[in-house]
Order: sequence, then structure tokens, then C-alpha cells
Amino acid sequence: MNSISTKTMNQKEEIILQLTGIEKSYKTYSETLHVLRGVDLTIHRGEIVSIMGPSGSGKSTLLNIIGLLDTYDSGMYSIAGIDTTNLTRKQKQQIRLQKIGFVFQTFNLIQTLTVQQNIELPMNLLRKSQENQHKRSSELMAEFGLTTKKKKFPYQLSIGEQQRVSIARALVNNPVIILCDEPTGNLDEENAQTILNHLSNLKRFNTTILIVTHNPSIKQITDRNFILSHGKIEQQA
Ligand SMILES: Nc1ncnc2c1ncn2[C@@H]1O[C@H](COP(=O)(O)OP(=O)(O)OP(=O)(O)O)[C@@H](O)[C@H]1O
Ligand SMILES: [Mg+2]
Repeated sequence: MNSISTKTMNQKEEIILQLTGIEKSYKTYSETLHVLRGVDLTIHRGEIVSIMGPSGSGKSTLLNIIGLLDTYDSGMYSIAGIDTTNLTRKQKQQIRLQKIGFVFQTFNLIQTLTVQQNIELPMNLLRKSQENQHKRSSELMAEFGLTTKKKKFPYQLSIGEQQRVSIARALVNNPVIILCDEPTGNLDEENAQTILNHLSNLKRFNTTILIVTHNPSIKQITDRNFILSHGKIEQQA
């Protein structure tokens, strides 16, 4: 018992994400838009953290940087102890596949693949064995109530089921962090609550989750809440 609680404490202290002074501007021919003006953020293993902020405040921009889908102009960013400053495109791609799970408002499922194939896709891209892929996707389909839907295509699913597939896919490679951009944005209240419950249940696997959202109900499941305002992150009281 003691050793378990000590282990949990140590894991809690492990830094998964560290951003210091991150700046990002978008330049067009007529103007420069300073979206991020020195973002500082540290997230530890097992935490569920939200970032809220007005539309256009830079939440998706920040999530894209954290997800290594976009670059930053200055500052420092490390994920799971890896400094991202000088990574090649190929290294970023590997880190994205191995360490980051993405959940988007629009689900981003591949329409020509079944539920099972969508969930297995990130494992497939890492060339994991078929046997391992099937074992892992079966576990996840059971966890998210999708077992009877495994051979269905996204268009044959309800909206809530599609989002559950996208969460299962985000988890398939056991990432160090799940990044969610408005995960409940396209859902009605009941389906949104189901997704929040599923995300909250991931606590028992010590999964680290960063959620960007406008939905204040998120606070039911988060450990810490931040606001992105005027290009900086502020912790909410
Ligand atoms: N590729 C781009 N080129 C130029 N400007 C951009 C680009 N992407 C985003 N922006 C601008 O940067 C600002 C921040 O956009 P971002 O999408 O990060 O906001 P957001 O906080 O996610 O908003 P929302 O809540 O509406 O999703 C906006 O003013 C947007 O117009
Ligand atoms: Mg956005």
C-alpha cells in the first residue's frame, strides 16, 4: 500500500509538459498578429488540466504547438523530457505518434476505415504487429462501449460514438498526454457529459490530459484550470 502511494506521488511530480516564454505571431503582408506573448505552463503526469479563453485568444494555436503540429517563434518547450527546439520533421512525427493522442471537435475519423481500423491506425503507423493491434483495440472498444460497432464505418455511428472512437484512437499507443481541442463542442449535453465521464475515468490509468474548451462543465473533471488571455496563461482562482 505504502509503496503504491509513494509511486503515485513520484509519478505526480514527473513533468510531462514544460513551456517557458512561448511566443507565436502570424505575419500577413499588412500586419503581424502576436497571438502568444510568453506562455508559461507546466503539467505533471496524471493531471487533467483545462485551458479556457475567448474565441481567437490562441487556444488552438497553443494546442497545435504542444502537439508539434505547428512551430513557435521563441521560448522553450519540452515534452516527456525531450526538448523540442531542434527536432527534425521526422522526429516530431515519431513523437506525435508515440507520445501524443489527439481528440478534436470534429473527430477527424477516416471515413473509409471501420471503427476498429480507425482505432488501430496510430499503431499501424508505428508498424506494431496485427496481433498487438487487435488486442489493444479490443480492450479500448470494450472500455468505450464500441465492441458491437467494430465493423461499422464512421457515417454509421452516432455523433457521441464517433467521439468515443476518436478518444480510443488517441489512447491506442499509450501516449504520455492526450490533447483535446473542444472535445464536446459538437455534442449535445448528454453526449458531452458521457465524454467528460470517459475522460475523467482515464484518471485511473494516470493519463495526463490537456483540454481546451468553452464548456464550463469541464471543471467537474479537472485538477487545474487556466485562462489564456492577452497571449498569456493565467491560473484560475
Ligand atoms: N494560420 C493563421 N494565419 C493567420 N492568423 C491565424 C492563423 N491561425 C490562427 N490565426 C489567428 O490567430 C488567432 C488565434 O486563433 P486560434 O485558432 O488559436 O484561436 P482559439 O482561441 O482557438 O479560438 P476558438 O475558441 O474560436 O477556437 C485568431 O485571431 C486567428 O484569426
Ligand atoms: Mg480553437
